[in-house]
Amino acid sequence: MAVTGAIFVGYVLLHMYGNLMAFGGADVYNTYAHHLRTFLMPMLPYQGFLWVLRLVLVLALVGHVFAAFTLWNRAQKARTTRYAVKKAVAATLSAKWMRWGGVALLAFVVFHLLEFTTRTITPGGDSDSPFTRLTNGFSLWWVFLIYLVAMFALAMHLHHGIWSAAQTLGWTSSALSRRVAKTLGLTIALVVSVGFIVPPFLILVGVIK
Ligand code: HEM
Repeated sequence: MAVTGAIFVGYVLLHMYGNLMAFGGADVYNTYAHHLRTFLMPMLPYQGFLWVLRLVLVLALVGHVFAAFTLWNRAQKARTTRYAVKKAVAATLSAKWMRWGGVALLAFVVFHLLEFTTRTITPGGDSDSPFTRLTNGFSLWWVFLIYLVAMFALAMHLHHGIWSAAQTLGWTSSALSRRVAKTLGLTIALVVSVGFIVPPFLILVGVIK
């Protein structure tokens, strides 16, 4: 769970940074989208790097979901009788929402891929320009709302997930390392979610067009 989660943390950081190219306008953003497809050419064919990335992400996703089910199963077997009263004594909101937050993120990724990768759903209209596809979609309030909720779920998932991964990997044995892990979890959660949502928000309000 921790290792596949770390792959996702690296990916969302890079993806968020890439999306900030929207600040540069249509030419900068479209050049960036083009580079993603020609990166490492001619060592790799056109879109080769993107396919390697997709393969890594799919494998990480399968591993992450498999680990989640294994842990869930183990937790259920650990107690076969039901609690009379079930109340977490010291769990943050992020920790309680890991399972359902994960399911929500999975649903979001499906919507997201249908919108930007397969272009099956094209809110606001399709276009051959990646920048126009981006601005078309986020000019609609309900598309923005879906992303806003998803980024909130992502922030919660990262906040608890990073702390939990640090614990699994044995990096929380002292008070200082625990504080570092907690701060890191909160910082990455905020940087990623805010960094992701700023360009769509500026598109919605007409600053980026
Ligand atoms: C506000 C948040 C986000 C925005 C605006 C956004 C935007 C985009 C755009 C425009 C693309 C198409 C890139 C291209 O083909 O040139 C894309 C692809 C993708 N995004 Fe996002 N994204 C966001 C959040 C996320 C999150 C949170 C995840 C994962 C947890 C994610 C996963 C992906 C994946 C897997 C692809 C497909 C790459 C491919 O195989 O073509 N995105 N995103």
